[in-house]
Amino acid sequence: MPLHDNAFAAPGCIAVEDVSFSYGGGERVLDRIDLAIDRGEFVAVIGPSGCGKSTLLRLLAGLAGPDSGRLSVSGVPVTGPGLDRAVVFQDYSLFPWMSCRDNIVLALEQAGMGAAREERRAIASDYLELVGLRADGGKLPGELSGGMRQRTAIARALAVNAPILLMDEPFGALDEITRARQQDLLLNLWQDGRAGGGGKTVLFVTHDVEEAVILGDRVIVMGTRPGRIVRDFPVGLPRPRSRNSAIHHDDFVAVRDKLLRDLNLVVDERLGPAGLAGQGDGI
Ligand SMILES: Nc1ncnc2c1ncn2[C@@H]1O[C@H](COP(=O)(O)OP(=O)(O)OP(=O)(O)O)[C@@H](O)[C@H]1O
Ligand SMILES: [Mg+2]
Repeated sequence: MPLHDNAFAAPGCIAVEDVSFSYGGGERVLDRIDLAIDRGEFVAVIGPSGCGKSTLLRLLAGLAGPDSGRLSVSGVPVTGPGLDRAVVFQDYSLFPWMSCRDNIVLALEQAGMGAAREERRAIASDYLELVGLRADGGKLPGELSGGMRQRTAIARALAVNAPILLMDEPFGALDEITRARQQDLLLNLWQDGRAGGGGKTVLFVTHDVEEAVILGDRVIVMGTRPGRIVRDFPVGLPRPRSRNSAIHHDDFVAVRDKLLRDLNLVVDERLGPAGLAGQGDGI
Protein backbone atom coordinates (compact mmCIF):
# COMPACT_ATOMS: atom_id res chain seq x y z
CA MET A 1 0.00 0.00 0.00
CA PRO A 2 1.51 3.40 -0.85
CA LEU A 3 2.21 5.16 2.41
CA HIS A 4 1.22 8.53 0.98
CA ASP A 5 -2.43 7.68 0.68
CA ASN A 6 -5.23 7.75 3.21
CA ALA A 7 -4.03 7.23 6.77
CA PHE A 8 -0.65 8.85 6.17
CA ALA A 9 -2.05 11.98 4.60
CA ALA A 10 -3.23 13.10 8.05
CA PRO A 11 -1.68 16.27 9.53
CA GLY A 12 1.45 15.49 11.51
CA CYS A 13 2.16 12.07 10.05
CA ILE A 14 5.49 11.14 8.49
CA ALA A 15 6.00 8.72 5.62
CA VAL A 16 9.36 7.52 4.35
CA GLU A 17 9.02 5.19 1.43
CA ASP A 18 11.85 3.14 -0.07
CA VAL A 19 14.35 5.96 0.51
CA SER A 20 18.01 5.58 -0.42
CA PHE A 21 20.65 8.27 -0.07
CA SER A 22 24.36 8.84 -0.55
CA TYR A 23 26.42 12.00 -0.04
CA GLY A 24 27.64 13.30 -3.38
CA GLY A 25 27.08 10.01 -5.12
CA GLY A 26 29.52 8.18 -2.80
CA GLU A 27 28.86 5.14 -0.67
CA ARG A 28 25.21 4.50 0.09
CA VAL A 29 24.38 5.86 3.54
CA LEU A 30 20.67 5.04 3.70
CA ASP A 31 19.39 1.96 1.97
CA ARG A 32 15.73 1.47 1.15
CA ILE A 33 14.30 2.97 4.32
CA ASP A 34 10.58 2.53 4.93
CA LEU A 35 9.06 4.23 7.92
CA ALA A 36 5.54 5.30 8.70
CA ILE A 37 4.82 7.42 11.77
CA ASP A 38 1.32 8.31 12.75
CA ARG A 39 0.24 11.71 14.01
CA GLY A 40 1.05 12.16 17.68
CA GLU A 41 3.42 9.21 17.90
CA PHE A 42 6.71 9.42 19.77
CA VAL A 43 9.28 7.35 17.92
CA ALA A 44 12.84 6.86 19.16
CA VAL A 45 15.64 5.96 16.74
CA ILE A 46 18.73 4.16 17.91
CA GLY A 47 21.70 2.62 16.13
CA PRO A 48 25.49 2.61 16.03
CA SER A 49 27.44 5.76 15.22
CA GLY A 50 27.53 6.38 11.47
CA CYS A 51 24.45 4.31 10.61
CA GLY A 52 22.64 7.34 9.14
CA LYS A 53 20.33 8.58 11.91
CA SER A 54 21.25 12.25 11.43
CA THR A 55 21.10 11.80 7.68
CA LEU A 56 17.55 10.51 7.93
CA LEU A 57 16.61 13.55 10.03
CA ARG A 58 18.28 15.88 7.51
CA LEU A 59 16.16 14.39 4.75
CA LEU A 60 13.00 14.79 6.81
CA ALA A 61 14.02 18.35 7.67
CA GLY A 62 14.26 19.00 3.92
CA LEU A 63 17.97 19.84 3.96
CA ALA A 64 18.79 17.19 1.36
CA GLY A 65 16.78 15.13 -1.07
CA PRO A 66 16.88 11.32 -1.45
CA ASP A 67 18.56 9.57 -4.40
CA SER A 68 15.42 7.49 -4.73
CA GLY A 69 12.18 6.94 -2.88
CA ARG A 70 9.83 9.48 -1.30
CA LEU A 71 9.44 11.34 1.96
CA SER A 72 6.30 13.13 2.93
CA VAL A 73 4.93 14.98 5.92
CA SER A 74 1.19 15.37 6.44
CA GLY A 75 0.79 13.77 3.01
CA VAL A 76 2.85 16.47 1.29
CA PRO A 77 6.20 15.56 -0.32
CA VAL A 78 9.19 17.08 1.50
CA THR A 79 10.90 19.53 -0.84
CA GLY A 80 12.67 21.77 1.67
CA PRO A 81 12.52 22.99 5.27
CA GLY A 82 9.09 23.95 6.57
CA LEU A 83 7.48 25.58 9.59
CA ASP A 84 5.61 22.34 10.27
CA ARG A 85 8.90 20.73 11.39
CA ALA A 86 10.99 22.00 14.29
CA VAL A 87 14.46 20.50 14.42
CA VAL A 88 17.04 20.14 17.17
CA PHE A 89 20.25 19.34 15.34
CA GLN A 90 23.09 17.37 16.85
CA ASP A 91 25.29 20.50 16.70
CA TYR A 92 22.50 22.81 18.04
CA SER A 93 22.74 25.25 15.06
CA LEU A 94 22.33 28.52 16.94
CA PHE A 95 23.34 31.83 15.39
CA PRO A 96 26.53 32.65 17.30
CA TRP A 97 26.16 36.43 16.99
CA MET A 98 22.70 36.51 18.63
CA SER A 99 21.83 36.05 22.27
CA CYS A 100 20.09 32.82 23.20
CA ARG A 101 16.83 34.69 23.66
CA ASP A 102 17.15 36.39 20.27
CA ASN A 103 17.79 33.04 18.60
CA ILE A 104 14.38 31.96 19.87
CA VAL A 105 12.75 35.31 19.09
CA LEU A 106 13.94 35.02 15.48
CA ALA A 107 12.49 31.51 15.16
CA LEU A 108 9.18 32.75 16.57
CA GLU A 109 9.20 35.62 14.08
CA GLN A 110 9.85 33.22 11.21
CA ALA A 111 7.01 31.01 12.44
CA GLY A 112 4.68 34.04 12.54
CA MET A 113 4.19 33.73 16.30
CA GLY A 114 3.66 36.58 18.72
CA ALA A 115 2.05 39.86 17.72
CA ALA A 116 5.02 42.05 18.61
CA ARG A 117 8.65 41.70 19.55
CA GLU A 118 7.89 42.10 23.26
CA GLU A 119 5.45 39.21 23.11
CA ARG A 120 8.02 37.07 21.31
CA ARG A 121 10.60 37.95 23.94
CA ALA A 122 8.17 36.90 26.66
CA ILE A 123 7.48 33.56 24.94
CA ALA A 124 11.23 33.02 24.48
CA SER A 125 11.82 33.75 28.19
CA ASP A 126 9.10 31.28 29.20
CA TYR A 127 10.72 28.50 27.20
CA LEU A 128 14.20 29.39 28.43
CA GLU A 129 12.83 29.07 31.94
CA LEU A 130 11.34 25.67 31.11
CA VAL A 131 14.78 24.36 30.15
CA GLY A 132 16.40 25.96 33.20
CA LEU A 133 18.06 28.91 31.48
CA ARG A 134 16.01 31.81 32.76
CA ALA A 135 19.05 33.84 33.77
CA ASP A 136 21.07 33.11 30.63
CA GLY A 137 18.86 34.42 27.83
CA GLY A 138 21.03 37.46 27.21
CA LYS A 139 24.21 35.47 26.66
CA LEU A 140 25.69 34.54 23.32
CA PRO A 141 25.81 30.82 22.52
CA GLY A 142 29.62 30.97 22.68
CA GLU A 143 29.38 32.07 26.32
CA LEU A 144 27.47 28.92 27.28
CA SER A 145 28.45 25.31 27.87
CA GLY A 146 27.56 22.66 25.27
CA GLY A 147 24.66 21.43 27.39
CA MET A 148 23.31 24.96 27.81
CA ARG A 149 23.48 25.55 24.06
CA GLN A 150 21.69 22.28 23.57
CA ARG A 151 18.92 23.35 25.93
CA THR A 152 18.59 26.66 24.09
CA ALA A 153 18.08 24.74 20.85
CA ILE A 154 15.46 22.58 22.60
CA ALA A 155 13.69 25.70 23.91
CA ARG A 156 13.66 27.13 20.40
CA ALA A 157 12.21 23.96 18.91
CA LEU A 158 9.51 23.75 21.59
CA ALA A 159 8.66 27.46 21.44
CA VAL A 160 7.64 27.47 17.78
CA ASN A 161 5.04 24.81 18.58
CA ALA A 162 5.39 22.89 15.32
CA PRO A 163 3.29 19.73 14.92
CA ILE A 164 6.43 17.72 14.19
CA LEU A 165 9.58 17.64 16.29
CA LEU A 166 12.75 16.14 14.83
CA MET A 167 15.34 15.80 17.60
CA ASP A 168 18.88 14.55 17.09
CA GLU A 169 20.40 13.42 20.39
CA PRO A 170 18.94 16.51 22.06
CA PHE A 171 19.98 15.48 25.57
CA GLY A 172 23.35 13.97 24.65
CA ALA A 173 25.46 16.71 26.24
CA LEU A 174 23.52 16.98 29.50
CA ASP A 175 24.50 15.74 32.94
CA GLU A 176 22.36 12.95 34.34
CA ILE A 177 20.11 15.09 36.53
CA THR A 178 19.51 17.74 33.86
CA ARG A 179 18.89 15.03 31.31
CA ALA A 180 16.30 13.36 33.55
CA ARG A 181 14.53 16.70 34.01
CA GLN A 182 14.52 17.41 30.29
CA GLN A 183 13.09 13.96 29.60
CA ASP A 184 10.23 14.68 31.99
CA LEU A 185 9.71 18.13 30.49
CA LEU A 186 9.46 16.68 27.00
CA LEU A 187 7.17 13.87 28.15
CA ASN A 188 4.90 16.36 29.92
CA LEU A 189 4.67 18.76 27.01
CA TRP A 190 4.05 15.94 24.58
CA GLN A 191 1.46 14.24 26.79
CA ASP A 192 -0.34 17.52 27.56
CA GLY A 193 -0.50 18.22 23.84
CA ARG A 194 -1.93 14.81 23.15
CA ALA A 195 -4.51 15.11 25.91
CA GLY A 196 -5.52 18.48 24.46
CA GLY A 197 -5.95 17.03 20.98
CA GLY A 198 -2.84 18.77 19.61
CA GLY A 199 -0.39 15.89 19.87
CA LYS A 200 3.04 16.44 18.42
CA THR A 201 4.72 13.80 16.32
CA VAL A 202 8.25 13.27 17.63
CA LEU A 203 11.19 11.54 15.97
CA PHE A 204 13.91 11.35 18.58
CA VAL A 205 17.42 10.08 17.89
CA THR A 206 19.34 8.84 20.90
CA HIS A 207 22.30 6.63 21.81
CA ASP A 208 20.78 5.92 25.19
CA VAL A 209 18.79 2.70 25.28
CA GLU A 210 17.00 3.58 28.51
CA GLU A 211 16.05 6.99 27.17
CA ALA A 212 14.56 5.39 24.05
CA VAL A 213 12.41 3.11 26.21
CA ILE A 214 11.43 5.83 28.70
CA LEU A 215 10.24 8.17 25.98
CA GLY A 216 9.16 6.17 22.95
CA ASP A 217 5.96 4.54 21.80
CA ARG A 218 8.21 2.66 19.42
CA VAL A 219 11.92 2.21 19.03
CA ILE A 220 13.40 1.99 15.55
CA VAL A 221 16.74 0.19 15.48
CA MET A 222 19.02 1.07 12.59
CA GLY A 223 21.85 -1.07 11.31
CA THR A 224 24.89 0.12 9.48
CA ARG A 225 26.70 -0.37 6.14
CA PRO A 226 24.46 0.86 4.67
CA GLY A 227 21.95 2.35 7.09
CA ARG A 228 18.80 0.28 7.28
CA ILE A 229 15.98 -0.22 9.70
CA VAL A 230 16.43 -3.63 11.25
CA ARG A 231 13.82 -3.48 13.99
CA ASP A 232 10.68 -1.61 14.83
CA PHE A 233 9.66 -2.35 18.41
CA PRO A 234 6.52 -1.25 20.16
CA VAL A 235 7.56 -0.28 23.72
CA GLY A 236 4.22 -0.94 25.35
CA LEU A 237 4.78 0.83 28.70
CA PRO A 238 1.64 2.64 29.84
CA ARG A 239 0.93 6.32 29.15
CA PRO A 240 1.00 8.89 30.55
CA ARG A 241 4.54 8.22 31.68
CA SER A 242 7.21 9.97 33.62
CA ARG A 243 10.83 8.92 33.66
CA ASN A 244 10.27 7.45 37.12
CA SER A 245 7.09 5.59 36.29
CA ALA A 246 8.77 4.13 33.21
CA ILE A 247 11.96 2.90 34.86
CA HIS A 248 10.05 1.39 37.77
CA HIS A 249 7.56 -0.43 35.60
CA ASP A 250 7.74 -4.23 35.82
CA ASP A 251 8.46 -4.57 32.11
CA PHE A 252 11.16 -1.90 31.87
CA VAL A 253 14.22 -4.07 32.43
CA ALA A 254 13.04 -6.74 30.00
CA VAL A 255 12.33 -4.16 27.31
CA ARG A 256 15.67 -2.43 27.82
CA ASP A 257 17.61 -5.69 27.77
CA LYS A 258 15.94 -6.86 24.61
CA LEU A 259 16.82 -3.64 22.89
CA LEU A 260 20.40 -3.87 24.14
CA ARG A 261 20.68 -7.39 22.85
CA ASP A 262 19.54 -6.28 19.41
CA LEU A 263 21.94 -3.37 19.39
CA ASN A 264 24.75 -5.78 20.17
CA LEU A 265 23.68 -7.94 17.25
CA VAL A 266 23.64 -4.87 15.00
CA VAL A 267 27.12 -3.81 16.10
CA ASP A 268 28.37 -7.36 15.48
CA GLU A 269 26.59 -7.21 12.11
CA ARG A 270 24.55 -10.28 12.96
CA LEU A 271 21.19 -8.56 12.64
CA GLY A 272 20.32 -7.38 9.16
CA PRO A 273 17.01 -6.42 7.57
CA ALA A 274 16.01 -10.09 7.51
CA GLY A 275 15.96 -9.88 11.30
CA LEU A 276 12.70 -8.04 11.02
CA ALA A 277 11.02 -11.05 9.51
CA GLY A 278 13.10 -13.73 11.18
CA GLN A 279 13.09 -12.45 14.75
CA GLY A 280 9.99 -10.38 14.80
CA ASP A 281 9.07 -10.75 18.44
CA GLY A 282 8.26 -7.26 19.67
CA ILE A 283 9.35 -5.97 23.03
N1 LIG B 1 28.17 15.91 4.95
C1 LIG B 1 28.58 14.66 4.74
N2 LIG B 1 29.33 14.34 3.66
C2 LIG B 1 29.73 13.09 3.43
N3 LIG B 1 29.44 12.05 4.22
C3 LIG B 1 28.73 12.30 5.32
C4 LIG B 1 28.25 13.60 5.64
N4 LIG B 1 27.54 13.54 6.80
C5 LIG B 1 27.58 12.25 7.18
N5 LIG B 1 28.29 11.50 6.29
C6 LIG B 1 28.51 10.05 6.37
O1 LIG B 1 27.24 9.42 6.36
C7 LIG B 1 27.22 8.32 7.28
C8 LIG B 1 26.06 8.50 8.24
O2 LIG B 1 26.30 9.67 9.02
P1 LIG B 1 25.25 10.20 10.07
O3 LIG B 1 25.78 11.48 10.60
O4 LIG B 1 23.91 10.19 9.46
O5 LIG B 1 25.33 9.04 11.17
P2 LIG B 1 24.67 8.95 12.62
O6 LIG B 1 23.94 7.66 12.70
O7 LIG B 1 23.91 10.18 12.91
O8 LIG B 1 25.96 8.87 13.57
P3 LIG B 1 26.18 9.43 15.06
O9 LIG B 1 25.46 8.47 15.97
O10 LIG B 1 27.66 9.35 15.25
O11 LIG B 1 25.65 10.82 15.14
C9 LIG B 1 28.60 8.26 7.93
O12 LIG B 1 29.35 7.28 7.25
C10 LIG B 1 29.17 9.64 7.67
O13 LIG B 1 30.55 9.57 7.50
MG1 LIG C 1 24.14 11.72 14.22
